Amino acid sequence: MFLGLTLVGCEEPPNPAENPDYKSRSGEKIYKERCTTCHGVDGKLGDSGAKDLSVSKMDSGAIAKIIKNGKNGMPRQGKYIYNDEEMSNTVQYVKSLRK
Ligand code: HEC
Repeated sequence: MFLGLTLVGCEEPPNPAENPDYKSRSGEKIYKERCTTCHGVDGKLGDSGAKDLSVSKMDSGAIAKIIKNGKNGMPRQGKYIYNDEEMSNTVQYVKSLRK
């Protein structure tokens, strides 16, 4: 376990979710930390060419993909989302911004 963490630590900052005590963050928390600068709290801000999330029709798989890999003006966010549960929380939160 410690060896694994050390090896990962050489290349990238350690993933906090590897700590057994780690509690997944809510989609709201992640969205407010990582996404509001471009998308705004209500998803409509549109800074840096960001799409209006309140009218987006993207399905969950596509949302997860754009969060992970980014697209054009949207930088990839995958490394800031530490496990599948957090990804799913974030996708659900993005969908909750729709009218
Ligand atoms: C630096 C600005 C920036 C940040 C930060 C950012 N985005 Fe984006 N986002 C964009 C841009 C620009 C696009 C449009 C990409 C394109 O299609 O050209 C976009 C598109 C999207 C789309 C696709 C909407 C659609 O219907 O096409 C989703 C979903 C999305 N962002 C979610 C998020 C989430 C969730 C986060 C935080 C984890 C986030 N974004 C952080 C700029 C940003």
